[in-house]
Amino acid sequence: MGIETSCDVTAAAVVADGRNIKSSVVASQVQLHAEFSGVVPEIASRAHIEKILPVISAAVSEAGLQKSDIDAIAVANQPGLVVALIVGVTAAKTLAFVWEKPLIAVNHVHAHLQSAMLTEVNLQLPAVALIVSGGHTNLYECTSPLDLTLLGSTVDDAAGEAFDKVATILRLPYPGGPAIEKIAKQGDAGAIAFPRSMLDRESLDFSFSGIKTAVLYYCRGQDMKGADRVASMTEQEIADIAASFQAAVVYVLVEKTKRAADRTNAKTVLLGGGVAANSMLRESLLQMCEQTRRLLLVAPKPLCTDNAAMVASLAWYKYIAGDFADLSLEAKATS
Ligand code: KG4
Ligand code: ZN
Repeated sequence: MGIETSCDVTAAAVVADGRNIKSSVVASQVQLHAEFSGVVPEIASRAHIEKILPVISAAVSEAGLQKSDIDAIAVANQPGLVVALIVGVTAAKTLAFVWEKPLIAVNHVHAHLQSAMLTEVNLQLPAVALIVSGGHTNLYECTSPLDLTLLGSTVDDAAGEAFDKVATILRLPYPGGPAIEKIAKQGDAGAIAFPRSMLDRESLDFSFSGIKTAVLYYCRGQDMKGADRVASMTEQEIADIAASFQAAVVYVLVEKTKRAADRTNAKTVLLGGGVAANSMLRESLLQMCEQTRRLLLVAPKPLCTDNAAMVASLAWYKYIAGDFADLSLEAKATS
């Protein structure tokens, strides 16, 4: 059984043999955070406390199992909001102790990658994995589900965070990613040349704060005095900004993934994390993979955003390897 509480989703799932999802229960807090246009840690923590036990019970009963059928309790203990992670970690430790099951600690970002691998039986390795979420933009070399080498990450904002912040500037609803994708469909991606930050030629790191600021200046003027411009823009103008922004972010993500794949001779590209739900990103990566004769594996949409099936799935490999945690396990903000 996997447990996930790293951010704004309370989730529990039962997975057999690392890939057979018996149940996956997800309680999202998006509505609670929407009015703040971002996740409020204290609100997240309280909501996790309210939901964690019902969500765990539902995961066990929807799997049609008894607690005696569960082999181990896995939990995402890092990285994330500590006040949120601590709820899942405490629940997992308590269940492991009371039910007398082994405890397994899982890295939340590594687990996202598992969502992309789940569906493929004959996984060709090495793979390059792009994990793009609200908190992370990471490129890994993957030689086995447990062997990940970090090749690059964001030096400032995560890709999803940039989508969320630009949506706020454009007065679109939260979370910003789906809202930007929707309105961008009617926009012209070539309308505005927003910066496509590649850092230096060799770098596999990302930077998205520049493009966010560029959108802000475009909407409010360099002196930031034109705050009302967005309010008076036509829907077409907003769609053009959204489409141009999305195209710039996707371009950088795909170029860096290609760089990483070339450098590591990757046979497969894996895509996971909340931003992996973005159709333009999925299509552009597919095009790149077809041109370079690589297989692209993308997480199914329900498994792109936070869930516990990915936690239980990665935990299976740790279970087989005998990699268990003890009751001193702590929640950690960073990996
Ligand atoms: O993986 P996730 O559920 O949570 C974190 O671990 O952060 O990712 C949430 C992020 C949000 O920033 C959201 O705006 C973004 O994923 N997102 C998208 C789309 N759907 C969700 N970004 C772009 N396009 C989408 N369709
Ligand atoms: Zn996540």
